[in-house]
Amino acid sequence: MNFLAIETSCDETSVAIFTEALEVRAHLVASQTDLHARFRGVVPEVAARAHLQRLLPLIDEALRTAGLRVNDIGCVAVLNTPGLVGALLVGVSAAKMLAVALEVPLVAANHLEAHIYACRLAAGRDIFPCVGLVVSGGHTSLFRCRSALDFELLGGTIDDAAGEAFDKVAALLGLGFPGGPAVEREARGGDPTAHAFPRAFWHDDRLSFSFSGLKTAVLYALHGKNVAEGPPPPPGKARADLAASFQQAVIDVLVAKCRQALRRTGLERLAVGGGVAANQTLRVQLEKMARECSAELFIPPLTLCTDNAAMAAIAVEKWRRGDFAPLDLDAEPTYLPRRP
Ligand code: KG4
Ligand code: ZN
Repeated sequence: MNFLAIETSCDETSVAIFTEALEVRAHLVASQTDLHARFRGVVPEVAARAHLQRLLPLIDEALRTAGLRVNDIGCVAVLNTPGLVGALLVGVSAAKMLAVALEVPLVAANHLEAHIYACRLAAGRDIFPCVGLVVSGGHTSLFRCRSALDFELLGGTIDDAAGEAFDKVAALLGLGFPGGPAVEREARGGDPTAHAFPRAFWHDDRLSFSFSGLKTAVLYALHGKNVAEGPPPPPGKARADLAASFQQAVIDVLVAKCRQALRRTGLERLAVGGGVAANQTLRVQLEKMARECSAELFIPPLTLCTDNAAMAAIAVEKWRRGDFAPLDLDAEPTYLPRRP
């Protein structure tokens, strides 16, 4: 049985085709980075229009890549929450029309749960129960994942998401968009101990995150306390030190909160997903912490960390249960933790 999955929650249009045995037969991602770069961030209307233009050609290409015809699709899956509502609407509308036209079931899945499911997909074996950390441009959330479809929110950010902080600091440093990979590259030449940036909730029992103060601290280090914003610094050691110290502050908190969540839940597996999980320094430091805690760490390869439709393979779990979406399915911009 072939599933066709659609992801359009933010600035990547993505289509995947996989089987119920989780064999991925096609996986395409059309990134919009070039469209948003000059705005230094994702512009929702630009994103929605680009999905509208790109989605059907991408579906066509995915079918050709898999060597399938549209009638070979037995189920349509879509990530309908959370995300930019205009962007989500494009994917949800397309998925509903396809399901109706093909007379096959429609399955709706949650984008955050799908980010964790990317770990299951990459591992090729069960990873549940586990602690799940979703660390992306829109979210920094810790979950107790009892199973693929039973998530309890343990804590999250009270302001910016970690990826958002990477993007904003990249803009302050004049490093371009998207910020994560640019800050990571810049940080390689810097000293992570050069600046003692704040680490919110670091030694606190709460499984909470806050990154907006850190962003302001980078601004102050750059321009002093009385300047709102100024020109970016020139390339060189000082800029690299700021990038490295900022990155280390984010990583220290993410690693500490994962350690606390493992201790608190008694779970022995940690699954990490979302765009920031592509960061190599974070991956290495999570590995070290997991070893110290005798926990098993699951992080997908880079293509499954950032937004993608293959992670919508979580729809297979819903399909097995007959948990189909109604045809009046809506796009939900915010995430509401499910009550088990
Ligand atoms: O999961 P994702 O593709 O989209 C959302 O669901 O938000 O995550 C995008 C975020 C962006 O903020 C981007 O700057 C960040 O992930 N990111 C990184 C890296 N690659 C992407 N952050 C740090 N280091 C990276 N290598
Ligand atoms: Zn995402």
